[in-house]
Amino acid sequence: MKLEVKKISLDNLKADAVVVPLFKDHKQTPSLFVDLDRAFGKTLQSLVSVVNTEEGKITSTLVQGKHGIIRILFISLGEKEKVDLEKIRKLGGKLVQYFQCNQLKNNIVLSFQYGIQKIMPYEIARAFAEGILLGSYSFDSFKTDEEAKKKKEIQSITLVPEYDKDTAVLEKAFVFAEKVCTNTNWVRELVNTPANVATPAYIGEIAQQVAKKGGFKATILGLNDLKKEKMGCILAVSKGSDLEPKLIVLEYKAKRKSASTIALVGKGVTFDSGGINLKPTGYLETMKDDKAGAIAVLGTIKAAAELQLDINIIAVMPCVENMINGSASRPSDIIKAASGKSVEIGNTDAEGRLVLADALHYVTRYKPDAIIDIATLTGASFVALGPTITCMVGNDESLMKQLSDAGQHTYERVWQLPLYEEFDEHIKSDVADIKNLGLAKGGAGVIAGAVFLKQFIGKHKWIHLDIGGTARAESANEYLSKGPTGVGVRLLIEFLRRQK
Ligand code: BES
Ligand code: ZN
Ligand code: ZN
Repeated sequence: MKLEVKKISLDNLKADAVVVPLFKDHKQTPSLFVDLDRAFGKTLQSLVSVVNTEEGKITSTLVQGKHGIIRILFISLGEKEKVDLEKIRKLGGKLVQYFQCNQLKNNIVLSFQYGIQKIMPYEIARAFAEGILLGSYSFDSFKTDEEAKKKKEIQSITLVPEYDKDTAVLEKAFVFAEKVCTNTNWVRELVNTPANVATPAYIGEIAQQVAKKGGFKATILGLNDLKKEKMGCILAVSKGSDLEPKLIVLEYKAKRKSASTIALVGKGVTFDSGGINLKPTGYLETMKDDKAGAIAVLGTIKAAAELQLDINIIAVMPCVENMINGSASRPSDIIKAASGKSVEIGNTDAEGRLVLADALHYVTRYKPDAIIDIATLTGASFVALGPTITCMVGNDESLMKQLSDAGQHTYERVWQLPLYEEFDEHIKSDVADIKNLGLAKGGAGVIAGAVFLKQFIGKHKWIHLDIGGTARAESANEYLSKGPTGVGVRLLIEFLRRQK
C-alpha cells in the first residue's frame, strides 16, 4: 500500500474513492471541497446538508467522473472542538477497513486540517497514518486463499494537503508513522505466529537477520552458554520442553558519544502451558502470545535502527517454552538464579518472572542508565486495569513520568501501581531466599511479580511493564483487530525518541 501526501488536481481525478471529511453539524467544509464540487458540476454541495455528521459515520455516494464512477465518501470527525489524536487514529482505521471491504483500491483523502486549529499538522497526519496502517493489518499469512487476500489489498491512499506549505511536514509525519506502524504490524504477525513455528530458535534466527540488516550486534546464547552463565532460572523453565532455550542479546549504538543507554528486556515464552501447574482449557489457547514482550522489544530495536534514533539500546530476550515433559520443574523445587539468589518455585505457571530474573541480571553488566522490562507476566494485570491500560511498576518517578507521557501521546497508556517496601514480604519463602509467588489468593499479583523482578536489577533505574492484559485484544476496535496488539512498540519508540 502506497501512503502519500500529494497536491493533485481535483479536476481530472482518477480514483475509486474520494474522502471528504466533515465535522458535526456541517459547520465548515474543506476549501478543497469547493474545487471537487466544481469538478463535478456543483452537484456535491447540495448533498452535504443531508449527510449524517455523527462522529465516525460514513456516507457514500456514487458519481460519474471523467474516468469512470467514483465513490464520494463523507466521513465525520464529530464535534470540532472535541477532536483529538485518538479520534483521528480511529478515523484512519475505519476508513482503511471501509476501503478493504468495498475493494476500493486507489483512494484520495482531502485533508481535515481545515477544521482543527489546536493540534499541529504533523501530529494530525501522524495519527491518521497510524490509524490507516494499524487498521489495515489482519493475520492471514497461514490462509491459502490468495484471491481473497488480493481482494482486500489497497494500492494507494493519497492525502491532499489543505495548505501547500504543510506538504513537507505531513510527508515527514507519514514516513515516521510508516516506520513505527509497519514494525508494530510486524510484531503482531510474529506474536500471531503459532508456537509450532515460532520456537526460541526461530525467534533467534529472526533476531539475527534484524541485527544484520540494521547493522548492529547480535549474540545468541544457547543451552551450553546458559549453563556457563549459571542461569538456573531460565534453565528450570526450559527443561520441561524439548526445545532449546535462547537468550537473545542485541546492541544498537548511537552516533553520539554522550548518548545514554536504555536496556529493554522482554519475556519470550513461546508457549506457556503452565508446566506442572497446567493451565485449563480456555486459558491455554492464547498462550502463544506469551512471547509478546520479547517480540515488542525486537520490533522496537528494529524500528529504532530504521529511524536512526540517537540512543544506545541493549535488547535482551529470554526465549523458552514452558512445557511438561518428564524433566519439567515441579512446584517446591528450589533453584539458583544467575545472581546467586535461591528461588523456591511455588508455581510453575509463574515462569515469566523466572526467565526475566536471569535476563535482568545479565543486562546489569552493561550498566545501563535505565532498564525497562515488558512482559505478559500476570492475568492480574487484566483484573487491575483491563484490556487497554498497561500496568507500570518502577523505582524512579521521573523515568515513569516520561514513559507515562509517551503513553498518553501514543495512546498506549500506562498506569503506575505502587512498590512500597511492605510488598517485599509477599515473596518471602520459608525454604529459599524468595519464591516466585505472592499472596495466597493472588492479592496484588502485578506488584508481587514486580517485587520479584526488583531483586535482580541491582541499583539501576527500572520500570516493569505488565502487558498481560494489553498484549491481546479480545475484540476489535477501529484500528486494532482482535488478537495481538503489538503493544509496546509505539510506546517505547516515543519514549526513546524523547531521551537525551
Ligand atoms: N503468561 C501468564 C500470564 C497471562 C495470563 C498473560 C493470561 C496473559 C493472559 C503467566 O505466566 C502466568 O501464568 N501467571 C500467573 C502467575 C501466578 C501463578 C502467580 C497468573 O497470572 O495466574
Ligand atoms: Zn505462566
Ligand atoms: Zn507466562
